[in-house]
Amino acid sequence: MSYNLLKGKKGIIFGALDDKSIAWKVAEQAHAEGAIFTLSNTETALRFGMTSELAEKTGSSIIAADATSVDDLYNVFEKSMEILGGKVDFVLHSIGMSLNVRKKRVYNDLNYSYLQKTLDISAISFHKMLQVAYKLDAINEWGSVIALSYIAAQRVLYGYNDMADAKSLLESIARSFGYIYGREKKIRVNTISQSPTMTTAGSGVKGIDGLMDFTNRMSPLGNADAQECANYCVAMFSDLTRKVTMQNLFHDGGFSSMGMSLRAMSMYNKSLEAAIKLDDLDLD
Ligand SMILES: NC(=O)c1ccc[n+]([C@@H]2O[C@H](COP(=O)([O-])OP(=O)(O)OC[C@H]3O[C@@H](n4cnc5c(N)ncnc54)[C@H](O)[C@@H]3O)[C@@H](O)[C@H]2O)c1
Repeated sequence: MSYNLLKGKKGIIFGALDDKSIAWKVAEQAHAEGAIFTLSNTETALRFGMTSELAEKTGSSIIAADATSVDDLYNVFEKSMEILGGKVDFVLHSIGMSLNVRKKRVYNDLNYSYLQKTLDISAISFHKMLQVAYKLDAINEWGSVIALSYIAAQRVLYGYNDMADAKSLLESIARSFGYIYGREKKIRVNTISQSPTMTTAGSGVKGIDGLMDFTNRMSPLGNADAQECANYCVAMFSDLTRKVTMQNLFHDGGFSSMGMSLRAMSMYNKSLEAAIKLDDLDLD
């Protein structure tokens, strides 16, 4: 369903790799809501992913960039303004990667050069994006910038590793830059803290299947999927949310406010009964 919420708006969407990516769904929904935009991802992602299919579907141009490179980001913003015919109204940062997670380095045995890459790719790139846009004056008044986050920024979730630190930094950057951008240019900066979602990045999280089942049982509304996240992003890009800024917005079916739910408790009790039965068998 579409409501023409982004009619006449221009944007830049970073991070659509394939049709599971959250950014992919955001691009499809933004297109359906009347926006025009450019797409950006790394050279490697563009070679191995499906971004060109999305570009064709949405009539968008692709601009390659490593989001840790300030020069690349200047190129993305400058070219986007050329292609779209002026400043943009929205930007999506949907980027995350941890080499420690990929190489199975646990949190108490981190490789520090990997950690620096995690922070640069998954968080500092957001500051770089905002600073480049600010210096180029590339975003219209009342524009909206969103980055995607996860609740591991506030709570410990087993296996999320150094991405938890990256997400804390990401959310802090949204607040700090949000103040300056709001004060000087009336531009909103927020993070959306999304439920676990089965994407390429999501499937790298340790125990993702069990985690998704647990959060689904814990959340009164169930997990939010990638399409629902896209709908929320579009609402945040629209003029209906003009005074929301410097927030971390939970989009998680209520998970972040829960301690224990009936559905999670009954599952836990079942496993507990099975464990007690095993104990009673007194096996070695
Ligand atoms: N999937 C989940 O469970 C979940 C939950 C909460 C938040 N998020 C966040 O959502 C965002 C999007 O992830 P996704 O789940 O759609 O997975 P995804 O793998 O589809 O997207 C991650 C994107 O980051 C891009 N990327 C990696 N390194 C980059 C770099 N140096 N420069 C530019 N782009 C780079 C990848 O090419 C890819 O397109 C991430 O920030 C992720 O942490 C995901």
